[in-house]
Amino acid sequence: MIERVGVVGCGTMGSGIVQVLLEAGYIVKVREMDSALLEKGLSAVQKGLGRSAEKGILTVKAKEEAFNRLSGTLLVEDLKDCDLIIEAVFEDIQVKKDLFKNLDQICPKKVIFASNTSSLSITEMAASTSRPERVIGVHFFNPVQVMPLAEVIKTIITSPEVLDMTLELIKSLKKVPIISKDNPGFIVNLLLTPYLMDAIRAVAQGVASIQDIDTGMKLGCGHPMGPLMLADFIGLDILCKGANSMFDEYKDSRYAPPTLLIQLVKMGFVGKKAGKGFYDWSDQKNPVPRDIF
Ligand code: 3HC
Repeated sequence: MIERVGVVGCGTMGSGIVQVLLEAGYIVKVREMDSALLEKGLSAVQKGLGRSAEKGILTVKAKEEAFNRLSGTLLVEDLKDCDLIIEAVFEDIQVKKDLFKNLDQICPKKVIFASNTSSLSITEMAASTSRPERVIGVHFFNPVQVMPLAEVIKTIITSPEVLDMTLELIKSLKKVPIISKDNPGFIVNLLLTPYLMDAIRAVAQGVASIQDIDTGMKLGCGHPMGPLMLADFIGLDILCKGANSMFDEYKDSRYAPPTLLIQLVKMGFVGKKAGKGFYDWSDQKNPVPRDIF
């Protein structure tokens, strides 16, 4: 039974995961690399819980009680009494493998390791531990507090018990789990990434304006956001990295990041979090399409 959950990384995804775990009643420990990042992450969780209280999802008392179930640490060793540890660190396979290798030496054998990667190999992470059957993928969507889906990724040796426990955990967070094999991009990014790359190629080719491409998919297909706003929302750096890793695996040009995307990333115009991407996000509530050329 899962009662205590460790989360490594308290950025956008990590803090969202911590929040939904707290709201579902879990005891949560979160680890960050330095005290500034930890403080930032904990205050994002606190702000998020406040948002849930404003929305009537939690009472003020429940919000405080939830935050009291959270502790922060700079030491991975402090996670060893958790039943499950979810990593939400930078999308770099070596960083994730090193983390799991380290945790593997510290944690009792029953502890489950989960990765929130969007496209990296769970199999490769599992193989870096001595408990590959207890390693699984749990891919949440941004914003974690709002998006009702989580992909659960099983490798060829994930144990049925670990799969069942993970599915139960996702359901306890009031999210719908879907199960995917460990193919790069799983289900959602397998389909979403070529679509977003095509939208960027359409901008680069001058097919239409940023505004019209986004309006087309919003009003013509009922999407909550157009593809270029969604790309900014995800983060162009994260998108580019994910697309590259899928391209490396599939060698299919649909996944190849277009030059325009690479250039925007090189300039640091990585979307909403940077204030600039395909849109100018100076006013976060009213992003304005930028004149890219
Ligand atoms: N706790 C904390 N924050 C909350 C919250 C809660 N309980 N409820 C809402 N929020 C935040 C949201 O993050 C957002 O923050 P902001 O205003 O500070 O920027 C805001 O509150 C809006 O939330 P709403 O519930 O009012 O939602 P909206 O109706 O405005 O819709 C949206 C916003 C949910 C983002 C919608 O536009 C949407 O669904 N867009 C598409 C998102 C999408 O496709 N996400 C998946 C991306 S792919 C991905 O994540 C995979 C990765 O691997 C790349």
